[in-house]
Amino acid sequence: MKDQFGRGIDYLRISVTDKCNLRCTYCMPVEGLPWIPRAELLSYEEVAEVVRQMAALGLRRVRLTGGEPLVRRDLPDLVRQLREVEGIEEISLSTNAILLDGVADELRDAGVDRLNISLDTLRRERFAELARRPERSFDATMAGIAAAERVGFHPLKINVVVMRGVNDDELADFAARTRDRPWHVRFIELMPTEGNLFLSDRYVSADELIGRLRALTALVPVQGPRGNGPATYFEIPGAQGTVGVITPLSHNYCSKCNRMRLTADGRLRTCLFGTHEVDLKRPLRETGDVGAAVREALAGKPERHFLRIGTAGGSGGLSALSQVGG
Ligand code: 5AD
Ligand code: SF4
Repeated sequence: MKDQFGRGIDYLRISVTDKCNLRCTYCMPVEGLPWIPRAELLSYEEVAEVVRQMAALGLRRVRLTGGEPLVRRDLPDLVRQLREVEGIEEISLSTNAILLDGVADELRDAGVDRLNISLDTLRRERFAELARRPERSFDATMAGIAAAERVGFHPLKINVVVMRGVNDDELADFAARTRDRPWHVRFIELMPTEGNLFLSDRYVSADELIGRLRALTALVPVQGPRGNGPATYFEIPGAQGTVGVITPLSHNYCSKCNRMRLTADGRLRTCLFGTHEVDLKRPLRETGDVGAAVREALAGKPERHFLRIGTAGGSGGLSALSQVGG
């Protein structure tokens, strides 16, 4: 699959639900959002059918996202169906790990190859404040991470959204965790949406945070773990893991974009930000075929996002990244 700018698209991020069991300040309003009605959600069979038809056009890798994907019932069933699709080489999952402890081994057996875990703080009290849920959510997350390590998910990527005055005093603590365990900690620049503009002054650029880390410890540029993403990686000499940065705002990587996103209600969203979407559910339910819609999406995929710090102007009307799976 090639888009109108010649970029090869072989990666699909599939949001299986817009719901989440946390309410991270930058991601979702505390009262939640108007959830997608159940009948509008694609069934697992429908998701697998979309993936089958896209794999025939060149799709190779998929990632399951949310909201929080593990709040949707029987997620391993979907993984098993996707594993059967010819051409799909890799299935990964992005999760906050709260519900992971009970299903980590089933997910691995079903065919999940890699996990990304969102964890913005290593401190229990702060976690509760940031995620606006009781402190025991932190314990569940840590148990989930331990389960991921125990059942052998590797490499394990830990995603940290960095916010000034909120968790930017933990950069060194996160980096230190990579010394004796194979964690790949990735610091993500805070992206503006309509729902989080009150956090605009919290933005920290990747250059600043790497500079601050360098003042505390040696860091050498390295290749980093395998994956599909735009992160740039460094290593503390001798460490088992790496430290990476993801820079949607300070260093635009749209020219190398390899992906599209499928919303839980079956819209193919061609850019994380921007308004371009093509509905797949209707052709799927009416004719069984999404080929023409997928080609239409590829032809209309925008060249880049137009995000700017402090305004939601470039975010395409998104109130929260939870609506499209990050
Ligand atoms: N800016 C940066 N990252 C975000 N995420 C959610 N909302 C934002 C935002 N506004 C991240 C989550 C998770 C991933 C799926 O997206 O923390 O790591
Ligand atoms: Fe949920 Fe992830 Fe959004 Fe936090 S960042 S509210 S864990 S979807």
